[in-house]
Amino acid sequence: MAMHKAVNQMANTKLTNAREAKQDEFYTQYYDIEREVEAYLDYNPDVFRGKTVLLPCDDPEWSNFTKYFAQNFERLGLKKLISTSYAIDRKQERYGIQLSLFETEFETRAPHYDAKKTRSHGKIFILDRDENSDSRIDINDLKWQYLKGDGDFRSKEVTKLRDEADVIVTNPPFSLFREFFAWIVDTGKLFVMIANKNCVTYKELFPYIRGNKIWSGRREWAGGMWFETKYSDDVDKVVNGIDMKNVPAIWISNIDHGRRHHPLELMTMGDNLKYSKHKDLNAKNAYKRYDNYDAIEIPYTDAIPSDYNGVMGVPISFLDKYCPEQFEILNANDYRRDNTVPIKPHGLIKDKEGAIDGKPTYARILIRKRQ
Ligand SMILES: C[S@@+](CC[C@H](N)C(=O)[O-])C[C@H]1O[C@@H](n2cnc3c(N)ncnc32)[C@H](O)[C@@H]1O
Repeated sequence: MAMHKAVNQMANTKLTNAREAKQDEFYTQYYDIEREVEAYLDYNPDVFRGKTVLLPCDDPEWSNFTKYFAQNFERLGLKKLISTSYAIDRKQERYGIQLSLFETEFETRAPHYDAKKTRSHGKIFILDRDENSDSRIDINDLKWQYLKGDGDFRSKEVTKLRDEADVIVTNPPFSLFREFFAWIVDTGKLFVMIANKNCVTYKELFPYIRGNKIWSGRREWAGGMWFETKYSDDVDKVVNGIDMKNVPAIWISNIDHGRRHHPLELMTMGDNLKYSKHKDLNAKNAYKRYDNYDAIEIPYTDAIPSDYNGVMGVPISFLDKYCPEQFEILNANDYRRDNTVPIKPHGLIKDKEGAIDGKPTYARILIRKRQ
């Protein structure tokens, strides 16, 4: 019996590890990084000037973050780029899977290359000057060393690098999202990171969103984001021979960009009911008052009425369009996760897995138009 339990437990751990691995091991496309960072630069061309940028979960063979920042080092006016990677042995232990070690000649030919250490230690890549004297600073000037430890972002040595940095940029392991977020949020550093879109109502993050300290990045939420994956059994499409996975991911940041200062163009409540493109938007399911909270239900962000001054419950994807000069965020009702607000609008949202008129219910952000 005990044996049976142990076997079951092992199988469960394996499943959890594999799930976490799939959540954590996917790689951001160069184009997505470029498009996002360029939006911050459009708003303030000097936003990175003279700054030290840390990429704490990125080794250059796999990470386009390192490539982007190294290639654009001079244009961005960076002072220093630091990129650290997590030891492959640790990844394998943690996720219980085999991962191939991709090392370029840049690493294997280095005099300090050590075949054993290369599996058990993290690495640090630094770019801060023209090493090869070709009169420019770019990816060819990167130098690297082994870290003392495995490169876990929580380690003392990577935390020290965090303290040295002005800006932290990455797509971190989603299974450690809360820890990663806690690791950067109150440091006073600028940051740009990728997260699962549901995290916006986590109790650790939502207060910062409400207080306009953190916001959605430039990229729109619709359609999720496409990442390169190393799991051939979990592929949504193959592009030029590369396995790709679609993830409901978004950018979050505390660096300003222009989109968030463009107000949404909205119709009145009456016009929405008459002309909305949403066929199911009618007096039956829209603009209903919650039973125990003084707010009305808005099922689509573009159905927010321009002429309503009270509190409105909107889908979390509203944050994609949120303009702080147009609306204020009051609260959130994501009872499935953290009970951010203890409200339960009966009639519209029945219970945890409940449904409104047969439709699933979702988390809501409670907003009000600025007067
Ligand atoms: C979602 S992937 C993104 C990789 C890279 N930032 C990119 O976007 O291409 C997260 C990476 O963090 C690594 N990782 C997992 N746990 C880590 C930890 N505790 N410290 C640092 N990196 C970790 C994973 O192995 C994975 O390579």
